[in-house]
Amino acid sequence: MLVSNEWKDYEIIDCSCGEKLERWNNIYLLRPDPQIIWDNGNLKEKYNNINAHYHRSNKGGGYWENLKQTPEKWTVSYKNLKFNIKQMGFKHTGLFPEQNINWDYMINKIKESKRNIKVLNLFAYTGGATVACLSAGASVCHVDSSRGMVDWAKENLKSNNLTDAPVRFIVDDVVKFVKREIRRGNKYDAIIMDPPSYGRGSNNEVWDIEKDLFYLVNLCTELLSDNPLFLIINTYTTGLSKEVFTNILKMTVNKQYEGNITSEEIGIAIKDSDLVLPCGITSRWECK
Ligand SMILES: C[S@@+](CC[C@H](N)C(=O)[O-])C[C@H]1O[C@@H](n2cnc3c(N)ncnc32)[C@H](O)[C@@H]1O
Repeated sequence: MLVSNEWKDYEIIDCSCGEKLERWNNIYLLRPDPQIIWDNGNLKEKYNNINAHYHRSNKGGGYWENLKQTPEKWTVSYKNLKFNIKQMGFKHTGLFPEQNINWDYMINKIKESKRNIKVLNLFAYTGGATVACLSAGASVCHVDSSRGMVDWAKENLKSNNLTDAPVRFIVDDVVKFVKREIRRGNKYDAIIMDPPSYGRGSNNEVWDIEKDLFYLVNLCTELLSDNPLFLIINTYTTGLSKEVFTNILKMTVNKQYEGNITSEEIGIAIKDSDLVLPCGITSRWECK
């Protein structure tokens, strides 16, 4: 497992009974997490510093209960990167902190390559990976179907003084956009994708990871340059083994380019314990 343990502004304080208590800079949030099926006491009784608690509703979705005054938005830093955080629907905060594992990987690969790297970031959300790649000197095409997420990614660029960096923001369905890029003959040296289990394109196109992922990765192979650096699939979809992603990369990218494939669970160390909270799978193809 790849374990995230290099944050200073973020940590998981404790986990119990379906919930995790996290510190985001100086704000403490209690959020649901389906992996936490163990009991380590009542977190609301154990800690009196919780700013806000996200409650799941039986009808889907949920709501934030503010227990203390919480700023409308605030920032967390990871090394020299800065991200804006706020309480959002669906228990989101605008950042997946375990992705620092991938940010470090991408930054190192881009810097070590010592050439201009063109990155395609699919299902790019609020732009964690976009900021990381731009900070390493790459150019990035950032694609997400949600205008709100793209606007937030632009805010994140501002917070990192990257507004003049070479980035293209696209609000579109990922599959549609990739097909269009193939027709245009555009090429990328690195592709990152963080597909949800289910999602919607900007015109309500349905994304279903089980039906669509293999097809999308296959299409992406056609977008790779003659000298590709990496292709990363990150996913939170429970029920799919990491070997599934290895198989997909073997059957697509690795058929056309010689490379190495690694698929690992990623997780975050839980403070003052020897426990790790699993946070999904990351699968990487990289050139030999
Ligand atoms: C949960 S996020 C991925 C996590 C994020 N990349 C990270 O690690 O910080 C999934 C994103 O995919 C987008 N999305 C879902 N279906 C899509 C589609 N068909 N085309 C484009 N974007 C889509 C959503 O708007 C959302 O921002």
